[in-house]
Amino acid sequence: MIQALHQTGKLRLGVNIDHVATVRNARGSAWPDPLRAALLAETAGADGITAHLREDRRHIRDADIEALMAALTVPLNFECAATAEMQAIALRHKPHAICLVPEKREERTTEGGLDVASDQNRLTDYITPLREAGCRVSMFISHDPRQIEASARIGAAVVELHTGLYSDLLADGHAALADRELASLQAGAEFAASLGLEVHAGHGLTYDNVEAIAAIPELAELNIGHFLVGEAIFRGLEASIEEMRRRMDLARGL
Ligand code: PXP
Repeated sequence: MIQALHQTGKLRLGVNIDHVATVRNARGSAWPDPLRAALLAETAGADGITAHLREDRRHIRDADIEALMAALTVPLNFECAATAEMQAIALRHKPHAICLVPEKREERTTEGGLDVASDQNRLTDYITPLREAGCRVSMFISHDPRQIEASARIGAAVVELHTGLYSDLLADGHAALADRELASLQAGAEFAASLGLEVHAGHGLTYDNVEAIAAIPELAELNIGHFLVGEAIFRGLEASIEEMRRRMDLARGL
């Protein structure tokens, strides 16, 4: 019965606007404005906005976070590395959600999940003030049961499962390996939900791969950015998001 309710439940869509800022920063100008994109995303049906303030500020900047906090009517999911600087910024703004991600300066994007299992004591201390400030703390991790268990143990409310490998395997034509990865994501979502964690997923999601992920009944939210901003070049941001929403709903039988 619970399973059936999950399956028919609407999946939240968090729209990641980092790459609107990437285009802005490429020319050192004031446009395109990530806040304008976030407000349009709200109009198009986004249930939340995600923004990753990287240590090197390569896309989103501090002023963007301030503007988003002041103007959004949907929740902000603030993504950051687990550093002292980011903790101070998060505590100043107290966004709805804080998603901790691993960060390496040389990487093009967030390449792997956070190693919560090897850093449990530090992360427990790190998230305590964030939880006390009323933020929902999320760990961006792989589907490895050790990482899921550790996330529950340290007191995270949410885990976001990394779908990047699934998306890469499919895009590279490795269908059998992609199927196996999908099964691991399904098992991970089930395990996380059994521990009382809210389960999200994201990274590398596109129109072609979103339906299989959206059909995982334990998932409550997907966070999608790069593809949506790219697709906006061809069909406009609102239409780009609306089509993603449609495919997610289809996967849930809505
Ligand atoms: N979720 C997390 C935790 C991420 O780090 C990212 C990328 O910033 C995304 C979702 C969105 O990934 P993509 O831009 O590939 O859709």
